[in-house]
Amino acid sequence: MKAVILAGGTGTRLKPLTYWTNKHLLPVGSYPMICYGVTKLRDSGIRDIVIVTSRAALGNFADVLGSGRDWGVSIVYRVQEEAGGIAQALELARPLMLPGDKFIVLLGDNLFEESLQPYCDLFAKQPASGAMVLLKKVKDPRRYGVPKLDEANGRILHIEEKPDLPPSDFCVTGLYFYDTEVFQMIDGVKPSRRGELEITDVNNAYAQTGRLSYQEMRGWWTDAGTFESLEEAGRRLKGAIS
Ligand code: G1P
Repeated sequence: MKAVILAGGTGTRLKPLTYWTNKHLLPVGSYPMICYGVTKLRDSGIRDIVIVTSRAALGNFADVLGSGRDWGVSIVYRVQEEAGGIAQALELARPLMLPGDKFIVLLGDNLFEESLQPYCDLFAKQPASGAMVLLKKVKDPRRYGVPKLDEANGRILHIEEKPDLPPSDFCVTGLYFYDTEVFQMIDGVKPSRRGELEITDVNNAYAQTGRLSYQEMRGWWTDAGTFESLEEAGRRLKGAIS
């Protein structure tokens, strides 16, 4: 399976740190944040990784990760010229995917404990086309995309982005599994009120056709997009990456 790490964006919630560097290069424990996603993917058996980032940050990613050789993976970079949303960033991986490919998409500020291998295996074996997302129970779902579940069928009916009244106490983490149909789904999505192509709209397009499945993550999970969560990630990820 291939993987796409989305590592663009403006890191608004982490200003002023993100005035001088990309969010995904900020230190977490002893490493730039991006290194954890790369090694998690590698340890889950993934060798081919596409990293999407901004023009300004591209050289810094190359400084840290290079071709991926020293990290045991092969990395291809794609440049998102303007921040236009997570789904727009994902669309840039289109030319690198072959018909029939299934792949994992990781938001680069998502940090977590578990191996992704069981989820990759599960999704690879899933016979019908569709998408799968990983969920985690959180204290404040209003900060995230929140699913309304059809638990009997293991499907998501709908996701609400940062709702005032969350339909469950799960958050849709930034770990998504797709087939190449995702690119047609992105083609069908219109910019949101903030002018971006939202990943939640893409996931809802799958949900509408009853083809968005989910799994609940068991180990710890955090994003690192706010000062509080960045500090939590640092506490969790002390020590060396093996
Ligand atoms: C994004 C997604 C949201 C998801 C979150 C996970 O939000 O839009 O659905 O729950 O990542 O990290 P953002 O952190 O970009 O606000």
